[in-house]
Amino acid sequence: MLQDKRILLILTGGIAAYKGLDLIRRLRERGAAVTPVLTRAAEQFVTPLSVSALAGEKVYRDLFDLTDEAEMGHIQLSRSADLILVAPATADIMAKMAQGRADDLASTLLLATDTAVMVAPAMNVRMWDHPATQRNLAQIKGDGVTVIGPNKGDMACGEHGPGRMSEPMEIVAAVEAHFGPRPLAGKRVLVTSGPTHEPIDPVRYIANRSSGAQGTALGQALADLGAEVVFVTGPADVAPPSGVAVVSVETAHQMREAVSAALPVDAAVFAAAVADWRVEDASVHKLKKVAGNLPALQFAENPDILAEVAQMADGRPGLVVGFAAETDDVVAHATAKRARKGCDWIVANDVSPETGIMGGSENAVILISETSAETWPRMSKTDVAAQLAQRIADALS
Ligand code: C5P
Repeated sequence: MLQDKRILLILTGGIAAYKGLDLIRRLRERGAAVTPVLTRAAEQFVTPLSVSALAGEKVYRDLFDLTDEAEMGHIQLSRSADLILVAPATADIMAKMAQGRADDLASTLLLATDTAVMVAPAMNVRMWDHPATQRNLAQIKGDGVTVIGPNKGDMACGEHGPGRMSEPMEIVAAVEAHFGPRPLAGKRVLVTSGPTHEPIDPVRYIANRSSGAQGTALGQALADLGAEVVFVTGPADVAPPSGVAVVSVETAHQMREAVSAALPVDAAVFAAAVADWRVEDASVHKLKKVAGNLPALQFAENPDILAEVAQMADGRPGLVVGFAAETDDVVAHATAKRARKGCDWIVANDVSPETGIMGGSENAVILISETSAETWPRMSKTDVAAQLAQRIADALS
């Protein structure tokens, strides 16, 4: 619930501004007071009247409005809120934030504030992917701004890819998490996620079907509970969580290095689907196709990162959690795996194709510890993550 929370909502100029109207309603339904600010460009997409009517408050639009300044100066406006939310956030406002520019009301408020700031980017996929936007993104994240989304999908401009603004309810969830209890504040948690890619040659690789969805949801849930999360991810299908330190890797060896660089941590969760084998002596040149001549790949075993960390003599994390994707005898295999690897918990699941779990949005897990095996009902990967994060918080408290 957002009872008594005052949110300064800045809408900037993009087609996703229409979702901003729904966002105002959803925030108010939960008890938040929403003070809206519109940029000039936003007024091309939504009218001040509809924004004001939904917010039940006056809309602020102009840096040099004498009446507004007399009633509440822009400095006070920027600080009277419990949270400043920019949704949708265009590439332009992100660039201004990154540079610290203040040439209109929205950018001035963002520069003058000492309040927490969250942004929900929305833009064309090429604008999102542009190195300038990615630079600005890294800069504002480094400045402490929380970034929500964006999602991948179809865009109003007809293209497809990352850049769609998160849905209003996803933004509301992030806002609620921001104000929620933070039992993991001060704790450092490592999460591995996604598949690994093991090269055969410079263009071919061996991979697996992990989407990274469960690890990403877990990284987000841990960050939402206040943990400082180091998120080591292979090439996943989903965007990494917001508010975490992302370390992108490709191979198991790179993942192992990133994990060891992240230590020490209070807890480590190994949700990555690490390839068990890599190609020994991967070719530095592309293997040529020669009719009737099949390449013989020689495999080598990859390091078991989870087992290495779980069995560290010095500096072992207080809690080490592994995942076990099985297709048969799930509990028996996962129980044996927990003991063999030396981790504290194993989150086991059945990834037989008929379950639709691998690559899907739901999961059905069994939490295995030294003394118990708890079967959880099938639920969304987000809910599994939230419950697991809470259990981790309980264990570390
Ligand atoms: O042995 P298996 O791959 O089934 O174990 C799964 C668990 O071990 C997962 O938590 C996975 O992240 C971790 N793992 C690892 N390094 C490997 C293989 C698996 O960290 N090389």
